[in-house]
Amino acid sequence: MTRRVLGLVCAAAGGVEEIRERLIEPMISDGWTIAVTLTPTAATWLEAIGEVDKIAAVTGLPVRSTPRLPGERSPHPEVDCYAVIPATANTVAKLALGLADNQALTAVCEAIGRRQPPVVVFPRINAAHAGQPNWHSHIQALSAAGVHLIYGDDVWPLHTPRGAPGRQLPWPAIRTRIQDAVPAGM
Ligand SMILES: Cc1cc2nc3c(=O)[nH]c(=O)nc-3n(C[C@H](O)[C@H](O)[C@H](O)COP(=O)(O)O)c2cc1C
Repeated sequence: MTRRVLGLVCAAAGGVEEIRERLIEPMISDGWTIAVTLTPTAATWLEAIGEVDKIAAVTGLPVRSTPRLPGERSPHPEVDCYAVIPATANTVAKLALGLADNQALTAVCEAIGRRQPPVVVFPRINAAHAGQPNWHSHIQALSAAGVHLIYGDDVWPLHTPRGAPGRQLPWPAIRTRIQDAVPAGM
């Protein structure tokens, strides 16, 4: 069976430091190829703890955080699905508005605009983020565009800012939603 390719985009939110162990390695074991792109801030965080090189080693692909030069080829293969895990409130707002001012946003904004490949987003947010006046319209806009949101009290009840240090992301639900977005055998 052909390996499905996941374009994994990580923003600078809690839990990103565990992305290799909790998401990348299990999904590689499940038969996926993973091409990782980081927001610029997530790249500085993961560089600082030595995770960028480890992710490149386990995925066998360069970890992207900057755009290619005009005329350069993308170092990543075409993907069957994008997953933005974790997504910050900032990155969710930019995706909803089509703001593409870094490589991670550029790739996912295009997928949302084309309505393919599928896009899965887990907003790793707190109650203050959701209290922003435009938050609900961002969520509605992404949902209306067919984005698979991992969102709501059943998967991520909102905590107060700094009220849940070290809180685990809902990794099993995240893995299931990605698997469901791209049926095996595609
Ligand atoms: C230690 C720390 C933890 C953070 N955790 C979150 C978080 O869980 N969710 C969130 O939306 N923003 C969080 N932020 C704020 C984002 O990192 C910040 O808004 C950043 O500009 C997001 O950039 P990005 O969306 O390009 O990754 C955190 C910041 C710090 C310093």
